[in-house]
Amino acid sequence: MPQVQSKTRILTGITTSGTPHLGNYVGAIRPAIAASRNAGTESFYFLADYHALIKCDDPARVQRSTLEIAASWLACGLDPEKVYFYRQSDIREIPELTWILTCITAKGLLNRAHAYKAATDANREKGEDADAGVTAGLYMYPVLMAADILIFNAHKVPVGRDQVQHIEMARDIGQRFNHLYGADYFVLPEAAIEESVATLPGLDGRKMSKSYDNTIPLWLPAAALRKAILGIVTNSLGVGEAKNPDDSNIFSIYQAFASAQETAAMRQAFADGIGWGDAKQKLFERIDAELAPMREKYDALIAKPAEIEDILHAGAARARALAGPFLDKLRYAAGLRDLRASAATESKPIARSEKPALQPVVFREADAFAFKVLDAKRNVLKTQSGFADAKAAMAAAREAMATLEAA
Ligand code: TRP
Repeated sequence: MPQVQSKTRILTGITTSGTPHLGNYVGAIRPAIAASRNAGTESFYFLADYHALIKCDDPARVQRSTLEIAASWLACGLDPEKVYFYRQSDIREIPELTWILTCITAKGLLNRAHAYKAATDANREKGEDADAGVTAGLYMYPVLMAADILIFNAHKVPVGRDQVQHIEMARDIGQRFNHLYGADYFVLPEAAIEESVATLPGLDGRKMSKSYDNTIPLWLPAAALRKAILGIVTNSLGVGEAKNPDDSNIFSIYQAFASAQETAAMRQAFADGIGWGDAKQKLFERIDAELAPMREKYDALIAKPAEIEDILHAGAARARALAGPFLDKLRYAAGLRDLRASAATESKPIARSEKPALQPVVFREADAFAFKVLDAKRNVLKTQSGFADAKAAMAAAREAMATLEAA
């Protein structure tokens, strides 16, 4: 049943709730488009507008963001004929699979999702009800994301560190389905974190992010881009004083756009005491040289939403040609079948007396090791993070298993 695929499938989604900024360009758009040109890979890039509904209830904003993000990817050189480029909500199979997966996802798994936990922790801190203001959408977010990934049997999912847990969950959920219904229906995806890709500092020096309100929008007209760059914080060293490039936001941003040679020259200019005004002007010129031709394409695209709509429709049609037949198999596997199908009378033998065999799984998180204890149906019974090494995590897993077995 695993689909025969020779190419590595790379898939990622972009939530359509904001305006693309320089950090998105350097951290996601540019590397993804470069990767999409590799032979041997098949890329799936989509506008995650169902995910946008989780954090945004302004319809005009969801629509505008979808338009801007689609136009950005196209302006930056994504070739919609060579990749699968679509809007999540055009793929009817995704919400349908979401429900099927919901029914096999342990509620406890979702309780531990970082985004949900952060919301409930913040509520508790304020002395409010833990779930105050928390929608079921936020809670279900990881299942929708698992459906996005699993419906196309993606192998690799390029994401930021904050999303790694969601990919782990997609693996867990996919594995659970495979196990329950007795075949390798789903490829188990892996997070791909590109270490060499820069995270850009924002205007205030923290990571450029919408949540810090420190971003520089990607498609500002040149004059406004220059003005924004002049507003990046620096220290108070004057002209002629040597400056340390390695603790400078101006330098880090410059490096993300410049060649090795240009970077070396800028490093020298810092040592020679270039003034901040000059450094910022050089930074502006470097960024503008890269963006200007794409900005022209972007402005042209944005003015013709109908063309973008057509591109997305064509992308969805191609994606659904994969998702549709695959969903049919998954529906059948779960028992959503034509009543005339001969297997209607079969059912899985239920081994009631079977004692659940527990199984430890040790895995790596961003900055620590962690373990999970699974039962025979691959339910996660316990998970804990924060171990210095794999050995310590395994020892703790065994201890936890002993406790669970004794219970
Ligand atoms: N949740 C992701 C984010 O906020 C976006 C996303 C939705 C996604 N579905 C996905 C990313 C599937 C990768 C794969 O960044």
